This record gives sequence, structure tokens and C-alpha cells, in this order.
Amino acid sequence: MKISVIGCGYLGAVHAASMAELGHEVIGIDVDPARIESLQQGIAPFHEPGFDALLKKNASRLTFTTDMSVAAHANVHFVAVGTPQAADGSADMTYVNSAIEGLVPYLSESDLVVGKSTVPVGTAERLSAHVTPTGAVLMWNPEFLREGFAVEDTLSPDRLVYGVPEGADGDTATAVLDEVYAAILAKDTPRLVMNFATAELVKVAANSFLATKISFINAMAEIADVTGANVTQLADAIGYDTRIGRRFLNAGIGFGGGCLPKDIRGFVARAEELGVGDALSFLKDVDDINMRRRTRVVDVLTEELGSLDGKTIAVWGISFKPDSDDIRDSPALDIAESLACSGATVVSADPEGWKPAQARVERAGLSASLTTTDNHRAAVTGADALVVATEWKVFQEEDATAIGALMAQKLVVDGRNCLDANSWKEAGFRYRGMGRT
Ligand SMILES: NC(=O)c1ccc[n+]([C@@H]2O[C@H](COP(=O)([O-])OP(=O)(O)OC[C@H]3O[C@@H](n4cnc5c(N)ncnc54)[C@H](O)[C@@H]3O)[C@@H](O)[C@H]2O)c1
Repeated sequence: MKISVIGCGYLGAVHAASMAELGHEVIGIDVDPARIESLQQGIAPFHEPGFDALLKKNASRLTFTTDMSVAAHANVHFVAVGTPQAADGSADMTYVNSAIEGLVPYLSESDLVVGKSTVPVGTAERLSAHVTPTGAVLMWNPEFLREGFAVEDTLSPDRLVYGVPEGADGDTATAVLDEVYAAILAKDTPRLVMNFATAELVKVAANSFLATKISFINAMAEIADVTGANVTQLADAIGYDTRIGRRFLNAGIGFGGGCLPKDIRGFVARAEELGVGDALSFLKDVDDINMRRRTRVVDVLTEELGSLDGKTIAVWGISFKPDSDDIRDSPALDIAESLACSGATVVSADPEGWKPAQARVERAGLSASLTTTDNHRAAVTGADALVVATEWKVFQEEDATAIGALMAQKLVVDGRNCLDANSWKEAGFRYRGMGRT
């Protein structure tokens, strides 16, 4: 099949390469010329395990361009542009609106437009009015991939959700998307067909649930900190209950990235618009608990070191999660910036996130007090404290004794509760976890 993918970011570029892997001819379209140039050369513009190899393997079936008119050669068009947070907390729909507006002149009768971006409920219904006059059909197919596992999640998703219009158009849309995803469906992947509103809500509901689970255990960490309880043991114990489950119950510095924080805020804003804001008022608490985690690290360091002015602090981690270079709303980077603003000299290390972070640090005017590197051992040299802020495997596997020998003071704040506390204590470190000592 001939497919276009509009928006070639973390979601769209991986989707384009994955569709080529399924055997389709794919055109990736983006407004960012540098991104397109890189993709066209077979070079991933961001770090995502397995993506480089997928791009190269499928180069013969993949084209990238900034020219929207090329979409006229395709029959199925995925829309995967960004929906960032607007100043009022709602989802900024500028990019989705302009992508649809740009695509409409090149649509033909019997084309299928498939929305993948995460959007406020009601968007598909609204955009349908622009698409249907061309004879094309719109559907919404929300994406659940996790950065760090994006290739695997796209090619072997837990489930496929189709939001379709009512009647014959819905049947047509379902049949065409089934053809696109034939190889995935052949692996018995559950496929759920529903109306637009339900499909849009599935995505934000899933992210809200995950965010709530993380903030729940972080709220328990706050209680554990004042009672001497150990939140990791608490999570283990409640996690054995299959109704609760152990996943997403790791206390720490909280969630970040380009999805969870903005999706829960956008969901709250949309519910308020719809007059049902009370139904989601708990998500404001979820957000508040999450943001408090970031200040908690600064508080712990201040408890241990007194004033942070003039102190040297190493932060391991910049990306919002391991195996990614995505620094959008990253708790690790946020903490490093707060420490720098408190007068500390900060060296942040991350295998991938250090590159995109450099530009942001310069823009924030913090380059005199916050530097970034990919060398985490160099970062701790002469430091008064180490903060572990992103749980990259390379950090978890470090030798505490060797690290201690490089530092001015042996203090570690384990922001992800990901270190073996005993081995760090045995190496002479003062160890501070999140909701555990
Ligand atoms: N990143 C994830 O893990 C993930 C997972 C599930 C869903 N989503 C959702 O997918 C959407 C995209 O997220 P992302 O992380 O890939 O964002 P991103 O910022 O990495 O990529 C968005 C891309 O869209 C391009 N773009 C903007 N306007 C355009 C236009 N008019 N025409 C063509 N291209 C345009 C941008 O240049 C950019 O390359 C969002 O709605 C997000 O919430 C993301």
C-alpha cells in the first residue's frame, strides 16, 4: 500500500519506518528541513533503540520530504504531528489543524486519513468536517508506544484502537486499516473498534491512569519519609495483589517527557471546557504530587549539605527516561536547573540527553553553572554530592567504591531508587533514597 506519514518526530518517524517494515511504500512528510534531511540520509534525528537499523533496512521503501503535495501519491495518510501544551494547559492544536489543512488539497476519494496524535476529545468529529468533502474518510488510531521501546511497540502493540465514524464509512476505514496492519493483526493483536470520542478518550485515560499510579506511590514515599517506612518494600508488598500489580509503582522523582504531563493537563482543560471538570480534579493532585518530587531532591541536598551555594553537584541523567534522548519536561534536567539556580555548580551526565540539553541550558542562560557531558565519571570528579535522576543501566551498574574515590564528599541521592543501597553504603556513602533510606 502507499502510505504518507505527516509529522516525523518520535512517533511519526518510527511509524513511517515500521510501516515500510510491514512492506508498504512510505512517504514521511515534516515541516522541519533538518529532520527530513537526516531521515532521507538514513540517519535517525533522535536516539531510539533499533530505529537506525529499521531506517537503513527499509530505505528502498522510504522517502522523506517537506513537500506536502507528494501525499497525493499515497492512499492512507497518518497524522502524527505534535500536540504540545499551550500556555493555559490545554493541548495546542495548531499543528494538527495545519497538517489537516495542508493535506486536504491532496486527498482523493477513497483515501483514508488516520489521526495518531493525542488530541482532546471532540477533535476527530471536528476535523471530519474538513476531510469528508474530499471523499476521503477520517479515523482516529491513538498510539501507545513507549519511547525506548518505540520500534517494538509499533510493530507488536498490546492492542490496536480504531476510532471510526458511524455507518458505512466506519466499515470502509476499518477494512483499509486492517490491510495496513495485516501483519500485526496476524499475530492475534487485539483490535478494538469504537466511536471517535471513545478512541480519543482511551489514550488520555490510559495516560491518566499511569500518571495516577506513579503519583500514588510517590505520595506513599512522602509518608514513608516522615515515618521511617520503606516505600520499595511497601510497593513490593502491595504489588503482589494482582488487582494492584507491581509495575509503575516505583517511587522516585516522578514522571516527565513529552506525553504524560501535558496529556493529563490537556485532559483536565478539556473536561473543564465540557463542564465536567470536577470529574478530573484529582488529576491536579496527581500533577502536584509529581512536581513536588522535583523539589524533594533539592530539599534533601539542602538537608545534607546546608546551603547549596558554592557546592559542586553531579547529576546522572538528563533524559526523562533511560534509552531515550528526549528531554521534554524532564525531571532530571529540571532538578539540575534548580540546583544551578540555587548557586551550585552542576555537571549533568547522560549517554544521549547531554546533546539536546546543551542548547536548552544555553537558552536558559545557565551555561556558566550547568554543564552537560556524556562522561558520568568525569561528572562526579570533585563533587560534593551525586544525584541519580535517570535510571540508565550504566549508572546502576557503576562501582560505588570507584565513584566514591573520585568525589569530594560521599553523598548520593538516589532519585530513582535504582541503586543497590547497601553496596553504596558499604562503599562509605551517605545514601538518601526517595521514601527509603
Ligand atoms: N513520543 C511518544 O512517546 C508518543 C507516544 C504516543 C503518542 N504521542 C503523541 O504523538 C504526537 C507526536 O508526538 P511526538 O513525540 O512524535 O512529537 P515530536 O515533537 O517529536 O514530533 C512532531 C513532529 O511534527 C512535525 N510537524 C509539526 N507541524 C507539522 C505540519 N503541519 N506538517 C508536517 N509536520 C509537522 C514537527 O516538525 C515534528 O517533527 C503527539 O500528539 C503526542 O502526544 C507521542
